[in-house]
Amino acid sequence: MARRSTTPTPQESDEDLIIRSATLADVAGVIALDEEVTGLLKPQYWRELFEHFGARRRDQRFFLVAGDPGRIDGFIIGEVRAWEFGSPPSGWVFAVQVRPRLRVRGLGSRLFAAVRARFRAAGVERVRTMVARDNAVIHAFFRSQGMMAGPFIELEMRLD
Ligand SMILES: CC(C)(COP(=O)(O)OP(=O)(O)OC[C@H]1O[C@@H](n2cnc3c(N)ncnc32)[C@H](O)[C@@H]1OP(=O)(O)O)[C@@H](O)C(=O)NCCC(=O)NCCS
Repeated sequence: MARRSTTPTPQESDEDLIIRSATLADVAGVIALDEEVTGLLKPQYWRELFEHFGARRRDQRFFLVAGDPGRIDGFIIGEVRAWEFGSPPSGWVFAVQVRPRLRVRGLGSRLFAAVRARFRAAGVERVRTMVARDNAVIHAFFRSQGMMAGPFIELEMRLD
């Protein structure tokens, strides 16, 4: 078994949770974790995301999970994107989630470190992400990892 018991104490370390590439068998656990975090059940969305990020071009696309197939405790998804917005190839993080009762114990940092290592191995020098303005936790998390405002500003408008 790659993990500790399912009832950790607050003092317990999560360092024995192995971070690895997701397989198809993990998708149900990702769907369940996302439902716990967001309150929304989106099976088709996650299956399609796995098809894109977990099943193809695995040297450039990374879908990493922590936990067992039956119960995923955290995941992170990223991709090397080249020349998007005129920018040289860089790593983009699209999603990161940790099971609520395991948060603020370092698992998010370990997931982010793991995807950074994959990006470095893929030959890129920068990692980027986009965060919701009103999500203070995700801001605090990425700032704690050393990320700062980048060179782009997102623009949008309604189409009607
Ligand atoms: C963001 C998230 C992944 C962080 O996971 P985590 O395992 O708690 O992260 P860590 O324990 O590695 O925290 C690292 C640092 O982030 C900051 N941080 C994390 N959670 C924080 C919080 N609730 N408030 C303030 N700072 C926080 C702290 O600086 C922390 O370092 P510290 O513990 O030494 O103070 C997790 O909170 C989460 O899943 N959030 C909901 C999902 C989400 O909004 N995802 C973004 C859209 S995809």
